[in-house]
Amino acid sequence: MVKICCIGAGYVGGPTMAVIALKCPEIEVAVVDISVARISAWNSDQLPIYEPGLDGVVKQCRGKNLFFSTDVENHVSDADIVFVSVNTPTKTQGLGAGKAADLTYWESAARMIADVSKSDKIVVEKSTVPVKTAEAIEKILTHNSKGINFQILSNPEFLAEGTAIQDLLHPDRVLIGGRETPEGQKAIQTLRDVYAHWVPVEQIICTNLWSAELSKLAANAFLAQRISSVNAMSALCEATGADVTQVSHAVGKDTRIGPKFLNASVGFGGSCFQKDILNLVYICECNGLPEVANYWKQVIKVNDYQKNRFVNRVVSSMFNTVSGKKIAILGFAFKKDTGDTRETPAIDVCKGLLGDKAHLSIYDPQASEDQIQRDLSMKKFDWDHPIHLQPMSPSSIKQVRCVWDAYEATKDAHGICILTEWDEFKTLDYHKIYDNMQKPAFVFDGRNVVDADKLRKIGFIVYSIGKPLDPWLKDMPAVA
Ligand code: NAD
Ligand code: UDX
Repeated sequence: MVKICCIGAGYVGGPTMAVIALKCPEIEVAVVDISVARISAWNSDQLPIYEPGLDGVVKQCRGKNLFFSTDVENHVSDADIVFVSVNTPTKTQGLGAGKAADLTYWESAARMIADVSKSDKIVVEKSTVPVKTAEAIEKILTHNSKGINFQILSNPEFLAEGTAIQDLLHPDRVLIGGRETPEGQKAIQTLRDVYAHWVPVEQIICTNLWSAELSKLAANAFLAQRISSVNAMSALCEATGADVTQVSHAVGKDTRIGPKFLNASVGFGGSCFQKDILNLVYICECNGLPEVANYWKQVIKVNDYQKNRFVNRVVSSMFNTVSGKKIAILGFAFKKDTGDTRETPAIDVCKGLLGDKAHLSIYDPQASEDQIQRDLSMKKFDWDHPIHLQPMSPSSIKQVRCVWDAYEATKDAHGICILTEWDEFKTLDYHKIYDNMQKPAFVFDGRNVVDADKLRKIGFIVYSIGKPLDPWLKDMPAVA
């Protein structure tokens, strides 16, 4: 019986291993983590992450061939295949701070694997890592290996949050990179056999290590670049009277371009895009390719511009000040169907509004108050470094209230910012909301989820990203 152990029971490790356990009943899968709280949650009825379909998969396998444990060393020692799915945040200090990936967690996992292993193992990079990381990991493992053979594979994960289970069950592709030696090829075959339980073999791509590592960074950069492209267009649409939804539709009809990932928004968020592009930029710079680095850096710059543009639009529309005004924030998670708030554009928008002394009333169906308060108190890049958490300044805390209902959030508010595309925001009773708001009542739709014309008929002044401007907004000062 093949035994798999996954180090890191997070958004990737948990769901990925649950699906492997579901599809490979003869394989024993242990997911281990240093966080006692996270493992306890995985073993409870309240899983640590919200992901449609995850509960069912975990319930089917847990205690049979799927185990969650803090006994990291024993499970690693017993395993034939060790996946490493720990966090790889952006460095906050030292060389490459603000760009390079911080491999502290990865390195400590690799050293632990070397220390506790008593038999040959395949070690799989599941985390997103800089290209050539496998070489460094190989050095750590072989240096301490006591004659044990380690084969390193790169098997990056392409799941998106909110659709993780569907993405894992029906992946566009599975990518496995390994050494071009007989031992390397044998290791690739072993991992391929695991995925072949449910993924058609022609969709399992096998490459060398560096191609696999780089493909992951490239895929995220391409996806984010599409969003920054359409968001850049959204600014031009607002300036010219074009409608970004119509432009996206027309552009996406070209089969060479395709329709997906062309939704204009307040900006992309999530734990991956910014981190991985910054990592790519750093790698380009280190390889003497400043023009390539600058090209990708621009994707982040446009994303920051889009978030700033949104805040400026809110403030300028509301007579150039939001000081003391109540702004309802509908949606805080970085996208719908997840409670994850990592790098959500809501953080920058809320901080921008707080900077202008607004009072925020925040409602999100999944993100917890505790998490929201922490996010608003953190410095950039600290979100994935739990030990660096900074306390929030008391004056800011007073300006932020989290409520558990959109109607409560919008009561007596001067304006509403929709920052996540939760389905429920489409069907709210906007008549009732309008009646309970201060006038003039503003809606700033950062996700283009509401029917702006309907809301205008109720009496709202509506701003929708990349759409022809409300006559009211046209008269307001230009937004930089
Ligand atoms: P996460 O923070 O949710 O989970 C990482 C877990 O690793 C944490 O629970 C942490 O306690 C644990 N950990 C850290 N060091 C450890 C150690 N030495 N031993 C045991 N456990 C340890 O992160 P995530 O979102 O699951 O991402 C993991 C990796 O996968 C990252 O490299 C990320 O870039 C990549 N990735 C993430 C996504 C996504 O959608 N979240 C998608 C694809 C790839
Ligand atoms: C992304 C990649 O899609 C996935 O393949 C990778 O493994 C991890 O990173 P994720 O961040 O979970 O997944 O979600 P994704 O659906 O890519 O959305 C990222 C951000 O882009 C969200 O804030 C989303 O709202 C935004 N987005 C997405 C847009 O603004 N417009 C779009 O058209 C699509």
